[in-house]
Amino acid sequence: MSTVQQVSSEAFSNIAFVKYWGKYGRQYPCNPSISMPIPQCKSFCSMEFELDDSNHGIESFEFEGSENTEFKNRINNYLESISDVYPLSNKLRLKIKTSNNFPHSAGIASSASAFAAIAKCLVQIEEIVVGKIENLNDRASMLARLASGSACRSISESEFTIWGKTKFDIGSNEFTQDVQLSDQTKDKLGWPLLDTILVVSSETKKVSSSQGHALMNTHLYKDARIEQAHENMRVIYSAIQNADLKTFGEIIENEALSLHALMMTSYPSFCLLHPNSLKIIELVKEFREQTGTNLYFTIDAGPNIHLIYPNIEKKIINEFITTNLLSLSESIIWGEPSEQ
Ligand code: DP6
Repeated sequence: MSTVQQVSSEAFSNIAFVKYWGKYGRQYPCNPSISMPIPQCKSFCSMEFELDDSNHGIESFEFEGSENTEFKNRINNYLESISDVYPLSNKLRLKIKTSNNFPHSAGIASSASAFAAIAKCLVQIEEIVVGKIENLNDRASMLARLASGSACRSISESEFTIWGKTKFDIGSNEFTQDVQLSDQTKDKLGWPLLDTILVVSSETKKVSSSQGHALMNTHLYKDARIEQAHENMRVIYSAIQNADLKTFGEIIENEALSLHALMMTSYPSFCLLHPNSLKIIELVKEFREQTGTNLYFTIDAGPNIHLIYPNIEKKIINEFITTNLLSLSESIIWGEPSEQ
């Protein structure tokens, strides 16, 4: 009889500044991406495990305190799909509990942080059962990638995270690479950067990210998009090193609008933006021009707007958000610095 043991982990959600859009093979990205953690959006996972070859799989899966069969089946399929790279899949009997500290229904994707927390637990179990793993984060981000591409960037808690091979000798398609900033660069940037999320609509999306990625395979602009993402990576990486927030902001807005332009020009086409998303974009641009503040936006595959700005400018920007943007959104998740 093997004994029951337990591991637990947590992971932040992340927001991409150069977007991963399009994939090939085994969850490899068509282009490199860069993100930062969203410290106010966290997922938690705990796993009770025992070795049991004859009865392996998930015994129970609790999400926010209730049994969830949909998630249980999804994670069971995931474990089966990675059994060649994670052979323990065929040996473990698991009881899994997960939860988020942000509302599941708010229209904020929790898959990145949830899968990252799950992958972190799997790697901890591997270390207990098989022995020391040289690079835990590489291993966890590779396993998270196989669940959901953007989840691999949620393993890291460093200032920025790169996933995908760039043209300047940084990054790998297999796992992520951290970008750490010096104290001097952080000071110049007004660090930390905050991400305040305007939940414009929490309705379920008409087209999933996976379907969107697939439409890139035959997209007329595929080659141009890959070229653009490489160039944006080069420029944003150097803007970060030089603490050049203006260039950083130009790139993140260009990426957000390019992502949605790609959706609108796919066959079949789709549009995930809401009329209020566009109103918010216009108001943000106007405010920036009038005040000279560093308030920028980015958008994932949905209508919600992520407002990105340095903590040192938060007083005037938060006032603007409260007065002008709150009425255009269903709810808001205020940006907060990480507690660490
Ligand atoms: C627009 O990681 O959700 O948020 O790999 O199919 O699970 P799968 O896709 P997913 O795609 C995220 C796309 C994005 C951009 C990004 O986060 O880089």
